[in-house]
Amino acid sequence: MAMKPAESPEVMAVRPDESELLDVETIKKDFPILDQQVNGRRAVYLDSAASSQKPTAVIAAMTDYYETTHANVHRGVYTWAEEATARYEASRGKVRRFINARSDAEIIYTKNVTEAINLVSNSWGRANLRAGDAVLLSEIEHHANLVPWLMLADSLGIELRYLPLGDDGQLDLTDLDRLVDGVKLVGITAMSNVLGTITPLERIIEAAHAAGAIVLVDAAQYVPHLATDVQALGADLFAFTGHKMLGPTGIGVLWGREELLEAMPPFLGGGDMIRDVRLDGFTTNELPWKFEAGTPPIAEAIGLGVAIDYLQALGMEAVRRHEVEITAYAMRTLTERHGDRLTIHGPVEPSMRGGVLSMDFAGLHPHDISQVLDSHGVCVRAGHHCAKPLMRKLGVGATARASFYVYNDEADVDALSDALTDAADFFG
Ligand SMILES: Cc1ncc(COP(=O)(O)O)c(C=O)c1O
Repeated sequence: MAMKPAESPEVMAVRPDESELLDVETIKKDFPILDQQVNGRRAVYLDSAASSQKPTAVIAAMTDYYETTHANVHRGVYTWAEEATARYEASRGKVRRFINARSDAEIIYTKNVTEAINLVSNSWGRANLRAGDAVLLSEIEHHANLVPWLMLADSLGIELRYLPLGDDGQLDLTDLDRLVDGVKLVGITAMSNVLGTITPLERIIEAAHAAGAIVLVDAAQYVPHLATDVQALGADLFAFTGHKMLGPTGIGVLWGREELLEAMPPFLGGGDMIRDVRLDGFTTNELPWKFEAGTPPIAEAIGLGVAIDYLQALGMEAVRRHEVEITAYAMRTLTERHGDRLTIHGPVEPSMRGGVLSMDFAGLHPHDISQVLDSHGVCVRAGHHCAKPLMRKLGVGATARASFYVYNDEADVDALSDALTDAADFFG
């Protein structure tokens, strides 16, 4: 299934004031990696959906922590240990404010969004699901929100149902009420990493709650790009990952409603997650530490806090506006220039999607495209994007995917476009 973009998608009904747009030229200077050449060309990084680049402020905060005050957290009562704990916990407060959670107790640090979802499937899933119970997912999920449930289906015998993808690149909600009936949990992406589709979360959450199910949102592609208010969205569990939002690798977040997290058993066992341990049993620590066994990713949490500072200084409304603008520019100019040789999967309307363009181009293999693009300094992802069931649904084995973030501008899109022309010429 291939969805062609409209000839000239409208960017926005009202163009924003210049002052409300991102100053990408200045932003680029904050990202030292972008100052490099790749294969003798200006680096054009178009793979932020896989992992974003990091501003100097994030790298510096992590280095400063290691150079000035590294010690383990929640343990020592000496100055460095107390300062490390203070920085680690201050970052949690930044995350809470960024997504408008009610309390720090609701912010659990994990390794990434994958671990956050595994935490839910193992903790909530094993405590609440029995053979024959149903979980509703969708056909556009990343493997991170499929495999943990497939594993649970194998071991517990639960039933998995799937919301289908419609021809317009949106989820088809025609059968939502029937599919959600009797379901105990709905696990849904907020934005597809392949199609850019922004899913109708409110509608799905409303139907799930009416059916008595809780909702877990995979917000890996959403939180980096859109202002997030977990209380307003009304989900029960919300997971995202630091490295896609200008933060370091090795840190993710699970937000959950406090009473739900309270009722969930611990996931990993060990130090820090306990209140007391005897040889015949243990009691668990309070939230959020009940779910943070062992030495946590301290520098990474600090780095994530600074990434959030950076995004907030830009303003999430401006971040989203920029994404819609650059996506519209890319869809319009790539389509105009490459015509029928190019198929862009997903919704045709830029304001209905994220800045992720999965492309089929001139019948070429995505790996071949990616190699030619690399010789132009243009970095895109080629492959199945950890969404094999979706690839099957689209009838492709792989796509070449360009994805945009705050440091990309129209010149980056033009470089992609030139490199695509070269790929077509090279492979005849
Ligand atoms: C929608 C979505 N979910 C989950 C993930 C997994 O992220 P991580 O590898 O950080 O756990 C990704 C990463 O590409 C993603 O795009």
